[in-house]
Amino acid sequence: MPTIGVIGGDGVGPEVVREGLAVLADVAEREGFRYDLVPFDLGGERYLKTGEVLPDKVVDDLRRCDALFLGAVGHPGVAPGILEKGILLRLRFEFHQYINLRPVRLYPGVETPIKGKGPDEIDMVVVRENNEDLYVGAGGFTRKGTAEEVAIQTSINTRAGVERCLRYAFDLARSRGRDRPYPGLTEEERGRGLLGQVTLVAKTNVLTFAHDLWMRAFTETARDYPEIKSDYQHVDACCMRMVVSPERFDVIATTNMFGDIITDLGAVLQGGMGLAASGNLNPARTAPSMFEPVHGSAPDIAGKGIANPIAAILSVAMLLDHLELPGASERIRRAVARVLAAGAPKTPDLGGRAKTADVGQAVRNAFE
Ligand code: NAD
Ligand code: IPM
Ligand code: MN
Repeated sequence: MPTIGVIGGDGVGPEVVREGLAVLADVAEREGFRYDLVPFDLGGERYLKTGEVLPDKVVDDLRRCDALFLGAVGHPGVAPGILEKGILLRLRFEFHQYINLRPVRLYPGVETPIKGKGPDEIDMVVVRENNEDLYVGAGGFTRKGTAEEVAIQTSINTRAGVERCLRYAFDLARSRGRDRPYPGLTEEERGRGLLGQVTLVAKTNVLTFAHDLWMRAFTETARDYPEIKSDYQHVDACCMRMVVSPERFDVIATTNMFGDIITDLGAVLQGGMGLAASGNLNPARTAPSMFEPVHGSAPDIAGKGIANPIAAILSVAMLLDHLELPGASERIRRAVARVLAAGAPKTPDLGGRAKTADVGQAVRNAFE
């Protein structure tokens, strides 16, 4: 029986996690599987009360879980970075969750702000490198607080770290293509046996060391995937094209920092922050993977019961994929699709007036 560690965290985190867990309970009953839940009290409140961010003993307990489900961390009363680095990034790094998988898929019935585009055009997956780059915390100050201050923050890119991320992206493009060839390929490309595409998103024209390594690793890795088309976009042009022609993307592989930024844009393409799910994956399964909405603790709406729980619910579906319960994850996605297609209930971010709990209940009611 799998053990799922739950970190509600801050702000809307516990509000959306509650709905995610209710959907999990329902789907488990319908699919006939069992699981144990272990709640972890982490986040701003604990820190403000005790000074503890993430004690080592808690890391040990989290490590014993089969998967983790996290709401969000980040608290208006705590300096930026303490909880984000101390909890989220520490777990991503210590548990070798080197892939951050962020699907960008527009469900029918959801409005996208992108004119003239629909579910056929907005269906890509961002494979964000999750253990390196500017996120490692390499850097420091000299002469802090003086006019001569220097602040350095270094982007770390290792050949092994980059390559495993790229391989994951190519494998994913291959499995997506086998299910359904990427529709953006031309007839001629399909004739040549191409099935999918990986777009490397980087900035080789400026980051001529780090992204030179990325490009070389990309070109070499691509040779092992003759059925996958290699594509490259500078990150600035990528942002433009995600808006103008989202259909030109299938799988995107990118760095930690760029992946963070373009997936908030991706969230908007698919209807907003309330809909975007993610998984921090340890593909080698040497430690638990962690599933969470892309959004943060949303302090501006926290405590009102109006956060959209769908991103969290779809993160539970990704968690169940990871636990190799595809029947359960697909059942959740179908239920979410039904609620979204019906156009109601909708939380205020989608233009409705429903509460978080109404949407969670509607998803549970939509189970077949
Ligand atoms: P945010 O994602 O929390 O909020 C951005 C905007 O999206 C806000 O207007 C918010 O109301 C809206 N939004 C977010 N989730 C929503 C939902 N489920 N339903 C409806 N609307 C939603 O980003 P932010 O404001 O930049 O960050 C707030 C805090 O969260 C910060 O402390 C930040 O560090 C942290 N953060 C944490 C995570 C995480 O834990 N994974 C991710 C991003 C930000
Ligand atoms: C995300 C968040 C985190 C990130 C922060 C809170 C550390 O923005 O999951 O996208 O930058 O990765
Ligand atoms: Mn982010």
